[in-house]
Amino acid sequence: MNEEATEFFNWHGWVVINQRLNETTVNEARSSWIDLRKRCAQEMDVSMDAYRKEISQWRDLWTQGGVFLDLLNKHDQVRGVAQEGMDWLGVRLLHDHIIAKPAGKTNKKIPWHQDSMFWPVDLPGCSTWTPMEDVGIAGGCLEVIDASHLEGCEQPVDFMAEERWEFGDKAERVLLPVKAGSTILLHSLTWHRSSPNTTDFDRPVHIGLWIHPSARWRPDLVDWHPVNAHCSIESGHRLEGDMFPMWGEMEETHVPDIQIHEGTVRNGGISMFDASSILSRQISTILQKEGTLSSLLSTSAKRREVMEKTIECGVCLKDQEEEILDILERLYICHAAYVLHKARNVFNATYADWWRLAGETWAKALEE
Ligand SMILES: [Fe+2]
Repeated sequence: MNEEATEFFNWHGWVVINQRLNETTVNEARSSWIDLRKRCAQEMDVSMDAYRKEISQWRDLWTQGGVFLDLLNKHDQVRGVAQEGMDWLGVRLLHDHIIAKPAGKTNKKIPWHQDSMFWPVDLPGCSTWTPMEDVGIAGGCLEVIDASHLEGCEQPVDFMAEERWEFGDKAERVLLPVKAGSTILLHSLTWHRSSPNTTDFDRPVHIGLWIHPSARWRPDLVDWHPVNAHCSIESGHRLEGDMFPMWGEMEETHVPDIQIHEGTVRNGGISMFDASSILSRQISTILQKEGTLSSLLSTSAKRREVMEKTIECGVCLKDQEEEILDILERLYICHAAYVLHKARNVFNATYADWWRLAGETWAKALEE
């Protein structure tokens, strides 16, 4: 980072810092992620092939120490980019994660959004986006609307609903292909998206989400966010605690006069905000048994029972047996991965597949 980069970031809402990490660090981060993925699949007793197609996000990597902690601890790695780009004396981590779009076109698009829509805090921040492989256009690189951070935050969008695609005549879309170890700094109000990975290589990216050290916790705005579970403070108070490490100095800020956005709106049906709890309730009702999604679907006998009921009730046809069983097994992997390792399918693809095939019809049948 230098003054020129910071100034560019202020104007555009994004900046690319080429080769921020050296090759050794990138290789170490990549192999740590590969080991983590292997260990998770083994602990779940799921084949690597099934696991890698399904699971695309791992959280709180810094808590494991090693290279992932270094990325944040060492100013000359990713954290300094956030702190200097925002021109803050200090910076706090909201959380970190790896998102890996698997090879083989199995992933979906992440639609246009602003990150602030999904952060339970009262101020904007930024994220650092650092791929561990080169990411070109075919690999699903980031795409931004230039300077869109200057226009405030809109209502949260639901990735499982319609995508926004209108940005006015003057909007400039910029694609950001980058080399491994480069860091893209993205303002949390910049509109961005990324396309499916159509290459033959998995596309892991380390993402750090950064907030101002004085930002206040607003769980009422984003009530579904997993970080809410780590907070023991009161709503409206400074977001601090063991899971939200801070570097540098504290500067006080005022509570903004205007709320950052109006909070998550749910439109009924399924949504990315509650997909797993909606499906847990649905499968529990179908089986008339208590339990979480993964406990209710943990064996092939249990999944067969759901499949048989789905056909008996006329929700699906007899020739859809295999398709239903396949989705139920994938639902099991998705939910069990979250329970065990806080890992998940960031695209909600399997929840959406179930909803399309059977869930929506089931919901109507169960209402009657
Ligand atoms: Fe994002």
